[in-house]
Amino acid sequence: MRSLARTVIASTLAAVILAAALPAMAQQAKPEELLKMRQGLMQGLRSQWAPIAGFAAGKADLPADAVDRAANLAMLAKLAPIGWAKGTEALPEANTKPEAFGAKSTQFADGWKSLAVETAKLADAAKAGPDALKAQAGNVGKLCKGCHDELRKE
Ligand code: HEC
Repeated sequence: MRSLARTVIASTLAAVILAAALPAMAQQAKPEELLKMRQGLMQGLRSQWAPIAGFAAGKADLPADAVDRAANLAMLAKLAPIGWAKGTEALPEANTKPEAFGAKSTQFADGWKSLAVETAKLADAAKAGPDALKAQAGNVGKLCKGCHDELRKE
């Protein structure tokens, strides 16, 4: 599980670093490749989040690597908006509502900023102890759900 999570993050990061280092090339990337990067970033979020969410819901033990996972979440939250870069507005296979690029683009961007802030707090909470982690996990889960309800297609 942990090594799978690492692989997901490593391959996602490779794609992100490539895109950051070679912006001209990234703009020429095929839309399907950009969508893979977007969904890979989101899968990375899920892989790091799921065991913490399970613990917070009382369905699983405290993950031994909760501090690392929370720090990874904070990093991925900062990177995630790259997955919605220019050129990815109209991908047929994507599950993002058009408003995320239009009328609700500020709300969308703010959603990522809030997730970066709240996951950084989650990393501190994980260091403080299980009760603090559980309490802060609720704030993170709300942000995932809030944005999905609002800007992700059914
Ligand atoms: C600010 C908005 C926003 C936040 C915050 C957010 N998501 Fe998402 N998420 C999306 C959108 C939009 C999609 C649809 C992506 C697409 O296919 O275009 C998505 C898709 C996903 C997917 C499906 C990826 C795939 O393979 O198709 C997963 C898993 C996911 N999110 C997990 C999470 C988790 C876990 C969190 C919180 C830790 C989170 N998301 C927070 C907007 C958000």
